[in-house]
Amino acid sequence: MGEIIVAIDGHSSCGKSTMAKMLAKELGYLYLDSGAMYRAVTLYALRNNLIDKGKIKCQELIDQLPKIKIGFSKNQETGKSETYLNGENVENEIRQLPVSNSVSSIATVAEVRKRMVKQQQSFGKDKGIVMDGRDISTIVFPDAELKIFMTALPEIRAQRRFDELKMKDSSVNFEDILKNVKDRDKKDTNRKISPLKIAPDAIILDNSHLTRQEQLTWAVEQANKIIEKNAC
Ligand code: CDP
Repeated sequence: MGEIIVAIDGHSSCGKSTMAKMLAKELGYLYLDSGAMYRAVTLYALRNNLIDKGKIKCQELIDQLPKIKIGFSKNQETGKSETYLNGENVENEIRQLPVSNSVSSIATVAEVRKRMVKQQQSFGKDKGIVMDGRDISTIVFPDAELKIFMTALPEIRAQRRFDELKMKDSSVNFEDILKNVKDRDKKDTNRKISPLKIAPDAIILDNSHLTRQEQLTWAVEQANKIIEKNAC
């Protein structure tokens, strides 16, 4: 009853997906990580030599789009949703730096975006969903009942990503990650198609100095206010 769409956009590595997942759990909603979809396309492109010295072979990628099937499935042990590319679990691989370094270029390809947006909209057709990304509140769900724009200082975002990656790979370097965070912000904000921007009716959340619990409490409050209004 009164289910809504929560659209969360914002800068790279500011914890959008962490908050979106926690919020979805709290509300009993579905969570969808739209960035994982662009990451899966990027992994496909890397594996199939569709990126040559940083340059995307656009036409070849577009021709192969029908062959790229992206899905999500819940890991029964952890309870977390994981990303699948053509039936293979790629959750771990899509988070590594080679994918992170190319994903914002792949995300500038109009045909790729068109396909991803269509799939994302179909996931939200029954509402009751929390989705995070860059264009969720502007392009995917411009009528979402709750729109949140998240940000945090670049150094804080890079430190969080560094701490996360360091647990799996001891060779990661803070400066490389900070550069990746800044480069992606620049590409995401300046691209011609669906640039990252703040929807006029979005609420801005700077979580530089907030704990996960504090930001969750804030988001649940925002959502409940709208859900209650929707119920009558
Ligand atoms: O979690 P993080 O902020 O590192 O990024 P992500 O959500 O995994 O998204 C990876 C990249 O995909 C972003 O830097 C964007 O370039 C692109 N993206 C996009 O263009 N549109 C979306 N809706 C989601 C992601």
